[in-house]
Amino acid sequence: MSVMAQAADRSDAHGGKSLLRFITCGSVDDGKSTLIGRLLHDSALVLEDQMARLEADSAKFGTQGADIDFALLVDGLAAEREQGITIDVAWRYFATARRKFIVADTPGHEQYTRNMATGASTTELAVLLVDARKGMTTQTRRHATIVSLMGVRHLVLAVNKMDLVDFDEARFREIEADFSDFVARLADDKAAVTSIPISALKGDNVTTASEHMPWYDGPTVVAHLETIDVASDRAGEPFRLPVQLAVRPDQSFRGFAGQLSSGSVAAGDAVAVLPSGRKSVVKSIVTMDGELETAVAGQSVTLTLEDEIDVARGDVFCPPDVPAGVANQFEVTLIWMGDEPMLPGRPYAFKLASANARATITSLKHAINVNTGEKLAASKLELNEIATCNISLDRRIAFDAYSDNRDIGGFILIDRLTNHTVGAGMIHFALRRSSNIQWQSLDVDKRARAAMKDQRSAILWFTGLSGAGKSTIANLVEKKLAAMGKHTYTLDGDNVRHGLNRDLGFTDADRVENIRRIGEVARLMIDAGLITLVSFISPFRSERRLARELVGEGEFIEIHVDTPLEVAESRDVKGLYKKARAGEIKNFTGIDSPYEPPQNPEIRVDTAAMSAEDAADEIIEHLVRAGIID
Ligand code: ADX
Repeated sequence: MSVMAQAADRSDAHGGKSLLRFITCGSVDDGKSTLIGRLLHDSALVLEDQMARLEADSAKFGTQGADIDFALLVDGLAAEREQGITIDVAWRYFATARRKFIVADTPGHEQYTRNMATGASTTELAVLLVDARKGMTTQTRRHATIVSLMGVRHLVLAVNKMDLVDFDEARFREIEADFSDFVARLADDKAAVTSIPISALKGDNVTTASEHMPWYDGPTVVAHLETIDVASDRAGEPFRLPVQLAVRPDQSFRGFAGQLSSGSVAAGDAVAVLPSGRKSVVKSIVTMDGELETAVAGQSVTLTLEDEIDVARGDVFCPPDVPAGVANQFEVTLIWMGDEPMLPGRPYAFKLASANARATITSLKHAINVNTGEKLAASKLELNEIATCNISLDRRIAFDAYSDNRDIGGFILIDRLTNHTVGAGMIHFALRRSSNIQWQSLDVDKRARAAMKDQRSAILWFTGLSGAGKSTIANLVEKKLAAMGKHTYTLDGDNVRHGLNRDLGFTDADRVENIRRIGEVARLMIDAGLITLVSFISPFRSERRLARELVGEGEFIEIHVDTPLEVAESRDVKGLYKKARAGEIKNFTGIDSPYEPPQNPEIRVDTAAMSAEDAADEIIEHLVRAGIID
């Protein structure tokens, strides 16, 4: 049996009809509720075998099968949207004689960009509604931009309220041309546009062809949705299976479970597992319902192999001759969903299919104005903003471009402190430099260099408010270490900002970059075998944690120089607090820029209770106890 026939067979087993997921974009004013209401209402009338299912689902969209009152249904949907704030993405289900549909209905305002992006990411087609009287609006452009960025390659422009422009063909053609022009400029990978003149209220060209527009010979909305071939034959694409789990289905053999994202695989096929590139041959394909000869896109299976090779969660099986890519740096489109802005250099957790990594945005190339599609310069991304960025991971992963495979081309970013999803991204391509630069392992290593100095290397990371006493204490510690013959170096905020970090100011974005660079420099210094003292306000937990993770266990000693703001301010050694209070300095830590105190520092120095001299002694004792010095 051919792969296609198998796929068709499979869909038969699920009720005999293929499924189309689409998203509707537009506002209540454009007639979005009316159109959705009409689709649900009219299609419910042709439903017979689906009735039971629909009734079961009726709670979801508040309808009663074939007895739906159209006006009531539309009012209900509109009212639901009035309270739009509570709706993220409303998923509605309906079916016609030929196909089943899932509609993502999302609010259209700019503050719901992330919701629309989420809805669009799982859909193959978007219906964009415009009011024939108004033509294209800012909102239409925004919606087209978002769905196009999310890789939706089939757009339906539904020009609504044709009855209010006397079913005028010229008006329709004008809007159609405007829209095509705009879409053509949006993405490299062009979306196909179908424009349909409709009246959602009267029903023209929704389910039945309009008698009022003899000049239009295209399909109705429903006919188009029923017949369009969007599945783009996932089964015909190269085989990809992201591994969810390594399992032992019957205790005796090892198998790798996951869902085929694309293509097909048969027992006896050669496979490669990425990123390692190891190869083997499929021994068997196990499912809940027994063994299969062949599995196709969409099926969840467990593969067993002829050889015992290392395969882990997050790896991807591919055909050896059409492998996925492997890289750790990419150009991507990123949609920001976090309340806190995205700052280049800040670490985030990264998740692509079942692969996990740690990521930072290394450069924000340009933001995209969602209302016009234009490129804008930007140094950070706020909630609902979209940008083209370069991203760097701490490990190599298997991937495809998002335009080829959404499952292993799309990813999310998660805030590592709150665990909230803060971004969604789409991979364009890998950056070549990632594969060409490798860490050079040298024979004389950190341990050897430190041993020659009769010490172990470590970072003493002093954090605290400006004027807390960080530099004073660090200076005393360094003097004591020098007196003991130890090899040290101090990196101090005020000094480094005169040279290496001369280009950075005090915005959140600049502080993140300041600390990222210092973390890297400190890493090189401890690699040189030095006891490295770092004295920076370093106000954010996230970047202190990044610096900690750059070095080995036990090498990072965080010292919180804990001085209350009132005390630091009353000392005001450099006169900066006074200026900050007077509004002469912006973004001053503790005044109008936050300080996030460490939660579990190795050492906390309470400067109210202890002299700088005593604090320095305590730090030296800690170093002895930790075996850094003796
Ligand atoms: S950090 O936040 O990026 O870690 P860093 O330690 O490098 O700051 O620099 C802090 C020093 O810069 C302060 O000790 C102070 O002398 C000076 N400074 C100037 N403007 C500011 C500001 N807006 N906020 C904090 N410190 C400032």
